[in-house]
Amino acid sequence: MGAKLLCLFLASALLAYYIYTPIPEDLEEPWKVMFITATFRAMGHLAEVADQLGLMHYMETLMLITAAEYVAPTSDENVTVMDTEFSNVAVRLYLPRKASDGLRRAVVYFHGGGWSLGHAGMKPYDHLTRWTSNRLNAVVVSVNYRLAPKYHFPVQFEDVYSVTKFFLQSSILSQYGVDPDRVCVAGDSAGGNLAAAVAQQLLKDPEVKTKLKAQALLYPALQTLDLNLPSYRENENKPVLPRLLMVKFWSEYFTSDSSLREAMASNRHVPVESSHLFQFVNWSNLLPEELKKDHVYTSPTYGSSELAEKYPGFLDPRAAPLLASDAQLRGLPLTYVLTCEHDVLRDDGVMYAGRLQAAGVPVTHDHAKDAFHGVMMFVLGPAKLAVGYRLLNRYIEWLNENL
Ligand SMILES: *[C@@H]1O[C@H](CO)[C@@H](O)[C@H](O)[C@H]1NC(C)=O
Ligand SMILES: *[C@@H]1O[C@H](CO)[C@@H](O)[C@H](O)[C@H]1NC(C)=O
Repeated sequence: MGAKLLCLFLASALLAYYIYTPIPEDLEEPWKVMFITATFRAMGHLAEVADQLGLMHYMETLMLITAAEYVAPTSDENVTVMDTEFSNVAVRLYLPRKASDGLRRAVVYFHGGGWSLGHAGMKPYDHLTRWTSNRLNAVVVSVNYRLAPKYHFPVQFEDVYSVTKFFLQSSILSQYGVDPDRVCVAGDSAGGNLAAAVAQQLLKDPEVKTKLKAQALLYPALQTLDLNLPSYRENENKPVLPRLLMVKFWSEYFTSDSSLREAMASNRHVPVESSHLFQFVNWSNLLPEELKKDHVYTSPTYGSSELAEKYPGFLDPRAAPLLASDAQLRGLPLTYVLTCEHDVLRDDGVMYAGRLQAAGVPVTHDHAKDAFHGVMMFVLGPAKLAVGYRLLNRYIEWLNENL
């Protein structure tokens, strides 16, 4: 009896130790955030073990979350939902049923998940895109681009690009009753990365006649160069996206070769030949004082040129939109950027918003002090967070006013 009680006590203590993480004071609903964090951490550990044992690739284990959250395309009284293909890439379409006075607005949406995870049919994404369609009476195209580790850069980018280009053809826009002057690209996290890259690439593409009205970037990943920005340092172990997971996502976007991941983890992956690119991510110039705090800027530590020769993608602006020059940023459409304080990717978004503004692009930059990465995913069921809802509403409101 005594032994059993002792075991129970030890097991509970271990569990409590495992679940307990210090939650930043300005996050509301700390217990919920703690359980969300513990769930993601447990999945991460499971994925690590399965990977080490050679059972499953790390990302395949995490993909089980995506699979568990999948919902089939289901129409409702407001929106017709269907899975189809645009230009041989899978997409989920949301077509409003409400009558429209004239042509409709449209949003081409790219889900997040580190280029390895996620699906347009994941409950939180299905909810977000359905709601966008309903609230804006807009056509929404949510893209199921191919994912790592099976596919690496530039496949993800090329998939979303060819869908966008296909959709922007005037014959397709008119088929869906869409106003060519009111189309936007949007995405969260890795999807925000893809949206920013698509918007840049469209400017250079002489074949595309329709211009985007706007881009909306929700806590986007925008640069590969400096994985030790103040936001990476401060939020190394914050909810949902710890620094080493972001490093895994970045390296997996280009290759499963662990040498890139190791170099990125120690922030020594950029060769000296590419040193000129650091001006575009130089936080010492590009961050406001309140985010620099007392962090000390040190010059980059360079790595071997071998990695960059093998995996040139990580220095490509189509993968890292912050690496575009100022001249290439001019002419980008009206932009919405959301950043979260407790997010390794915070400074990517802050620097991009600042560089776009300096290049004359009209930008709305919302910074949520009480939020962590991916928070807009937590708007359903027991994991629903008030802050997720608030930011989701704010994003839709911005689209409604600006698209
Ligand atoms: C349909 O739209 C109305 C008005 O916006 C809303 O009240 C209702 O909940 C929507 N139905 C669904 C299934 O989302
Ligand atoms: C970054 O900016 C600081 C301050 O202006 C400057 O001293 C430093 O040389 C810059 N570093 C790079 C790599 O551009």
